[in-house]
Amino acid sequence: MPRISDSALRRLEKTARSAASRAYAPYSEFPVGAAVLGRTGKVYAGCNVENASFGLCNCAERTAVFSAVAAGERTVRAVAVYTPTPLPTAPCGACRQVIHEFGPDALVICLCDGKSRIETKLSALLPAAFGPGDLA
Ligand code: THU
Repeated sequence: MPRISDSALRRLEKTARSAASRAYAPYSEFPVGAAVLGRTGKVYAGCNVENASFGLCNCAERTAVFSAVAAGERTVRAVAVYTPTPLPTAPCGACRQVIHEFGPDALVICLCDGKSRIETKLSALLPAAFGPGDLA
């Protein structure tokens, strides 16, 4: 697979930042934006969508992955997540597992309002993951 271009990464990051403005987070008041880069080169936005029945809250990363899959993508090449915090935050465990299903080698970029960022691979965030290959 060719390397991800700088312009695709810029698009991904911009999409994650702007998606946070559409978060529905009245309970946590913690808006999160995410974006997924699919194999086709298209970028899909996601935000967290909370619910009065708290257990049904959906994270921004999963919203973005599900949106990509619903559009026909089956490979996630990169995920960006933005939180309006001084330091970056990495995806929760549930989102790591969902990203693994479609992007075991995905690049994960975590952005915030400060200068620091996390740039890593999904495989580093979720080592020895359980995945489709384990269902023999
Ligand atoms: N949240 C995300 O959207 N992504 C994460 O990786 C961690 C947490 C959301 C879920 C909930 O709506 C709020 O942030 C507080 O946990």
